[in-house]
Amino acid sequence: MKRFRPYRATQEIRDQYADIHLSVADFIYPYFVVEGTGVKEEIPSMKGIYRFSVDLLLEDIRELLSVGVNKILLFGVIPAEEKDEKGSAGFAADNIVSRAVRAIKKSFPEVIVFTDVCLCEYTSHGHCGLLHNHDVDNDSTLPLLAEMAYQHAVAGADFVAPSAMMDGQVEAIRKRLDKEKLSTKILAYSAKYASAFYGPFRDAAGSAPSFGDRKAYQMDFRTKDQGLEEIAADIEEGADWIMVKPALAYLDIIQRASVRFPDYPLVSYQVSGEYAMLKTGAQAGFFDEDRIFFESLTSIKRAGAQYIITYYAKEFGKKTSK
Ligand code: PBG
Repeated sequence: MKRFRPYRATQEIRDQYADIHLSVADFIYPYFVVEGTGVKEEIPSMKGIYRFSVDLLLEDIRELLSVGVNKILLFGVIPAEEKDEKGSAGFAADNIVSRAVRAIKKSFPEVIVFTDVCLCEYTSHGHCGLLHNHDVDNDSTLPLLAEMAYQHAVAGADFVAPSAMMDGQVEAIRKRLDKEKLSTKILAYSAKYASAFYGPFRDAAGSAPSFGDRKAYQMDFRTKDQGLEEIAADIEEGADWIMVKPALAYLDIIQRASVRFPDYPLVSYQVSGEYAMLKTGAQAGFFDEDRIFFESLTSIKRAGAQYIITYYAKEFGKKTSK
C-alpha cells in the first residue's frame, strides 16, 4: 500500500506539497468605463463589479494597486444613441477608452493597461464587425480594428487585445502599429469560443447583438484542435501574448496550448458567466465564496495559464494583502 495521507496531515505539510500558488501578479482586472463624472453603477448580473466614469475609475485603481494588482483590461461602454453601423465611436480619436488610458497613465504610470479592441460595444447592431447582407464582413472590418488599436496605442495602452475574431485582425493591427512606430504589444484573443458564459458581460457592456448570434465568427466549442490552429495563426501574424477564453470549460485547451506554445505568455479569461456563477451560488449559500474562487483560479493556473483575466482579481488582492 502506498500511503498518501501523510502528505495531507497538517496545513503546514499540505502547504509544502502544493505545486500551484496563486499570486496577485497573475491577474488582470477588467473595468467597464462610461462617459460622465461621478458614475459608479453596479452591474446587476455581476455583483461587486461596476461601470465607472473616468474620475471614479481612478479612485478604484488606487485601491486595486494598494492590494497589489497592477494589470487592468479596459472596455468602453457608450449610450445607444452614440452607436452607429460602423461603431465609429470606438475608433474616434477621443474614444472613451483612449481618454481613460490617458488619465490612468497620467495618474498611475505603473499600471499595465490592456484595451479590448472590438466593434460590438460601439455598433448599433451589436456585432463585432461591419455588416454586409446581415453577415459580418471580415476584410472591411480589419482597418477599423487597426484604427481602434492605433488610437488605444497612441493614448498609451501597453497592450491592445483584439477580441472580434476576424481572420487577419492581428496582422492588420501589427502592420498598423509598425507603420506608426509604436511598440505596443498585442494580446490576441486567439481561441475565443462562442460561449453562453458571456451572458452577463453583454448586460454590462450593452453589447448583445440585436439579431442572430456570434457563431459565424467565434469558435464552435465542439471542435478539438481548431483553437490551437487559431493560436498558431495569431503567432504567425505577430501576437505577443495569446489567450484561451472562457477558462473553466476550456481547461483542456489551456493545457494543450501551454504545452504547444511554451514561448508565448498564455492568458486565460475567467469570463463574466463564470464569475456570476460563483458569485450567485455563494450568495445563495450553496458554497463558500473564497474557497470556490481560489479553487477555480488555481485550476486555471494548474492547466497552464500564466496570466488570468478575472473579475475576482481585486477580491483576491484584498484577501491576500492583509
Ligand atoms: C467582445 C468581448 C466579449 C467579452 C470580452 N470581449 C463579449 C463577446 O464576445 O460576446 C466577454 C467577456 C466576459 O464575458 O467577461 N468585445
